[in-house]
Parts: sequence; structure tokens; C-alpha cells
Amino acid sequence: MKRLLLGLIVITSLQANAQQKSDAKMKTYVDALMKKMTLDEKIGQLNLLTPGGGVATGAVVSKGVEEKISKGQVGGLFGVIGEAKIRQAQELAVNSSRLKIPLLFGSDVIHGYKTTFPIPLGMSCSWDMPMIERSARLAATEATADGLNWAFSPMVDIARDPRWGRIAEGAGEDPYLGSQVAKAMVVGYQNGDLSKDNTLLACVKHFALYGAADGGRDYNTVDMSKVKMYNDYLPPYKAAVDAGVGSIMTSFNTIDNIPATGNKWLLTDLLRKQWGFKGMVVSDYTSVNEMIDHGLGDLQAVSALSLKAGLDMDMVGEGFLTTLKKSLGEGKVTQKEIDDACRRILEAKYKLGLFTDPFRYCNKERAANQVLSEKQKNAAREFATKSFVLLKNNQQALPLKKTGTIALVGPLANNKANMLGTWAVSGNRDLSIPVFDGMKNLGIKEVNILYAKAANISDDTIFAKKVNVFGTRIDIDNRSAQEMMDEAIAVAKQSDVIVAVVGEASEMSGESSSRSTLNIPKSQQKLLQELKKIGKPLVLVIMSGRPLDLNWEMENEDKFEKFKGNYLDVENSPLIPFGFGLSYSSFNYSDIKLSAASLNTTGKIKATVTVTNTGDYDGEEVIQLYTRDMVGSIARPVKELKGFQKIMFKKGESKEVSFTIGVEDLKFYNSNLKFVAEPGDFKLFIGGNSKDVKETTFKLVK
Ligand code: BGC
Repeated sequence: MKRLLLGLIVITSLQANAQQKSDAKMKTYVDALMKKMTLDEKIGQLNLLTPGGGVATGAVVSKGVEEKISKGQVGGLFGVIGEAKIRQAQELAVNSSRLKIPLLFGSDVIHGYKTTFPIPLGMSCSWDMPMIERSARLAATEATADGLNWAFSPMVDIARDPRWGRIAEGAGEDPYLGSQVAKAMVVGYQNGDLSKDNTLLACVKHFALYGAADGGRDYNTVDMSKVKMYNDYLPPYKAAVDAGVGSIMTSFNTIDNIPATGNKWLLTDLLRKQWGFKGMVVSDYTSVNEMIDHGLGDLQAVSALSLKAGLDMDMVGEGFLTTLKKSLGEGKVTQKEIDDACRRILEAKYKLGLFTDPFRYCNKERAANQVLSEKQKNAAREFATKSFVLLKNNQQALPLKKTGTIALVGPLANNKANMLGTWAVSGNRDLSIPVFDGMKNLGIKEVNILYAKAANISDDTIFAKKVNVFGTRIDIDNRSAQEMMDEAIAVAKQSDVIVAVVGEASEMSGESSSRSTLNIPKSQQKLLQELKKIGKPLVLVIMSGRPLDLNWEMENEDKFEKFKGNYLDVENSPLIPFGFGLSYSSFNYSDIKLSAASLNTTGKIKATVTVTNTGDYDGEEVIQLYTRDMVGSIARPVKELKGFQKIMFKKGESKEVSFTIGVEDLKFYNSNLKFVAEPGDFKLFIGGNSKDVKETTFKLVK
């Protein structure tokens, strides 16, 4: 054991030496380059533009891009898709600009690149970290084969208000799960080595607290105590930094009334000084300019404020490009501040190997072989299978029998336009396979599938117009609602089972797509009510970018309690507890065995349960560990996720599953923002979701 430890120490110190050497080499290179650069060229590196032509992800696109590249006024581009176009732009940079500095090419590779994987919220529901890491690895392979070197992902904003449309883009509400996902994504994209031609520079976003917009309304103010920030909202960003993420994107919101993009406490004190982040920081789309609307001054003032706060690169707004020289002349920013920002961008380019070969990601052959390859598509299919969540399975209606007649109905049953989900900017919807085609493709002769659209996603034309900004997602049929319903009912009556594919259009979630109500639109609710009356087994396949209010669909039981945190006019207990998900099988948990009744600050406790597959199928179960700190110096959560394992059990199989808990797992930020564990009584829970758990107690002693 000692020898092994010694071996590890030697390897670690060798690695540290190698790192120091390569950092020193990079410094020498960047120093020499910066010596040759004029002030204008340095400021040019801080400028990130989008020439348009792709899917717009903001309100404005950049002008005069080619000329600016030739003049050395651009550090990077995004929204340029495809190897040939990227090569063209890179040629311009390295052939026409004075110092031939290559460009960064970024994109919103959010859930896959051209091969589109399930939306991030769906992926997180798999609780399968190796799979999530693999999805980022595959996305990096495909995107780099097509010329890109920078992904604006992972989005790790904790989101607890499902009205917020961007809840679709992250891992949801939980800091622990969110941190695991953040780490898996960063490792998947960067693979520990940016110098490879199949790894992408990751960009964790939106720093910070963007998911806590008041009222779930996109871009709204965030107002939060530091304790909540540190305990609940910051952990996933921190996990990404600890995993070595190379870049960070600021958020649109304010924090303590200072916009994140110009917030020195956030970008310098916390990110760089406390967390030791060494990569580059980019603004969000014109978020520097938006500080003018926040009342922080004119473009010159907000640009200077952002640079001084620690922002390195300005996305689209060109405030840095057009005002920093003037600000330097007037003593409002320093040369060092400009140099530091420029250095960090050049370092990212150096790490990506762009100075060695600016065209290393432009490889026609790789693009032809790896983009939308069979390997990618098979993975997408596997990821989709694993991110479905089964909420209810009365009378074992699922899995469907491989004989008989299925009525496949609903506006999303045969709908290519919505299959990719939100934020699939490089995906081609026409290539997607809707449920109807997928079912037919199985080619099961004994199954007869009858299809009817049955309803529009929504009948509301004004609503549809707002959702359809990127193309038709809500397609309002020429037929009347009654005609469609009649057809669906006729089809349903001829079937053995009805499968209704309902929910949200893809752009009912995503950026600038907040909703005030979480229901399935009325047109579809009506459909479900009519289908239910037929009395045949009814399977709902729900597609959405957010948790929906499924009270009617799930037949919830109301538990109102006076003088508790209830609403009067809606059901109160969560319809589905955090961590819930059925499989075709069922699982039994034994009581928890602890290796000891207490632990001290250097010790560990092992908690073990025996889990048995008691159903008729092999199946996977996500075994979850929660703790509760019974008495604290601040109010503590009633349950905190501390660990999980996703394990396959054969039919009838039992396995012992153990978790080890140490003092680190019991720490939290107290009111002085110290990360502490407080001695005392704890509860420990293990189960298949946060509600149905086995429970025991232990003590933390000094
Ligand atoms: C979004 C970012 C995105 C950027 C570039 C912004 O509107 O907030 O998440 O990365 O556009 O497309």
C-alpha cells in the first residue's frame, strides 16, 4: 500500500512538472506574440462575432465581418456551421490579417451537434454519468470533425421554477446531480487534453444564477442570499471549474443589482481568486450592451466596467472593440487589464493547437465520415431510450404487446418539426424520425398501427406565432378541431390500445420561452379527456422541455394542511417526487445497515442496503442516498442528495449496495460562508426516489 502511495505521489509530481513546463512554453509563445501586437490588435482579440446565416441565437448579427477579420479585429466567430465555411473564414484570418492569428470557432453544441441527443434536462433524468460524459465526447468528435473548436456548453444553471423556458437546457434543480452532470460534460468535451483535434474547449454557462430569474421569467432580476448561492446555485459551476473547464460565459441577470457581466465580485473575487479559474471569460450575446438598459452607463462605461470586472471577450456587442482604446486614453481601464484579457484568449488558442495548425479541425475526410455517422445515430437512439422517465404503468400496460392494433394519436406523434427539442441549432429536423415512423420501422407484422393527428399542439394562433419564430413548430391544421377529434376517436375505437403523443412544441421552452402556466395546451387536454372516455388502455407519451402540470393526467391526491406552505386552489404535494422513475420491473429495499453509529471528522461510515429485483423483467434502478442535518446553525434542507448509483439487476437478483460517507459529505456553507460540518445528529435515507426511502440515524462527533 505504501509503495502504491509512493508511486502515486511520484506520478502526480511528474504530472505537475510536465504541466509547469508546458505552461512556461505557452507563456514564452504568448509573450513573444503579444510583443508584436498593437493595442488595436490586442483589442481585436477580445471581439467575438456572428456573421449570420445560421440559426440566430440573439437579436442582432454582426456586420462587416470579413473586413474586420482582415484587419485583425476579430478573435473568434460563432454561428458559422460546416467545415468548408469555417476553413474559408480561418483562411481569411491567417492569410489576410497582419499577425495571422487564427480564430476560435464556437457554437451552441448543447445536446449533440448535427446528431441531436435528448435535451439536457432529459439526459439528466437518466442519472447515467458515464452516458452523459460519452454524449459530450461524441458531440465533441462530431463538432470538431466539422471545423468547430469551442462549445458553448455545458449549461449548468440550477433551475427550480419550471416556468423558466431554459430549464430544458440544464440538469434541473439539484446541486449535487447538477455538479455531477457538469463534471461529466466538461470531461466529455475536453477529455483532459485540448491539444487533440477531437476535443472541444468547453464553456460553462451562464455564470451565474441565471436559472433563478424572478418569477421564472427569462432575463429577469435575480435576488438571492449568499448562503443560498453558495449552497444551492454555485456548486455546478464550481464543479465545472474543478473539472478543468477552459472557458466561462457570463449571464444576463444581475446579482446584488450588478449585472453578472460587469460584476467584479463574481468574475474576479469568486471565480479567479477563490476558485482559481485560469481560463477565459466570454460575455453572453450583447450582455455588455444590455448593461446600458440596466442603468449602468453608456457603452464606453459598461465596456470598461466589464473589462475591469474580469470579462475577456465581448460577444457580438462590439463595446470592447469600439470603446476600450478611448477608455485606455482616458485612464478608465489599464493596459494590464487589456493585456490580461488578450493573453487569456491567446492561451485558449494555444492550448487548442491553433498556432501549430489553424486548420487542424478542418478535415473534409473526418467531416464526411464522422458527421451524422451511424455510430452517432445509434448513440442518439440509445441516449433517448435511457432518458425516458416512466411515471405510471397501471395494469402493466407497458411494454406494449407485439400483436394487435395500436391507435397512435396526437399532434406530436408524427411530427418531425419538434423531434429535436430546443437549442438544436445545427440539427436538421427533416432527418429526424417521428414516433410513427419509428414504430413502423420496427416492422412487427402482427402489429397494426392506425394514426390520427387528433389535435393541434395549440389552437391559439397568437401563441403559435410567438412559438414559431424559428419556423413552424405549431402547425394549425386546416381541419376543424372537431373533425380531427372525430377521426382520432374513430381510430381509437378500432384499437386495442391508444398511444397519445402530446405535450409541448420544441420552442415552447428554451431561451425567451417562459410560460406562466405549465399545462398541456387546452386543445390536447380536450383530446385526452375524450380518449379516456373510450375506456381502452391509454398510454401518454409526453414530450416537453420542462416539468408539466399533469395533475389531471396522473389523478393526484390532494393533501391540504392548514398553517403549512399550501396553495388553496391547486394540489399541494409534489405530484412526482424528485428522483422518481419506474421501470417495467419492481425493486425491494432492505433496511439500512451502518458500519458504525457515528463518525468523527476523519472517519467514514458505510451504509449498505440489499436491493432485490422483485419484478418480471431485468431492470435498472437508481439507488439514491440522502442525508438530513437535524440541528444546524442555519436552517438545513429536509433531504439532500449525497450520492447515487445506477445498477442493472437481473430478474430476481439481489445485490448489496453501499455508500461511504465522510465529513466532506456533511459540509455546507454557514452564515459566514465557511464550508463546515457541524457535529450532531443526522438522518440517512436510501431509496429509489426522494420520498420512498429507508431511513436510519447516525452522529457526527468531534
Ligand atoms: C444564449 C447563450 C448562447 C449565446 C450564443 C445567448 O442568447 O443565452 O446560451 O450560448 O446566445 O448563441
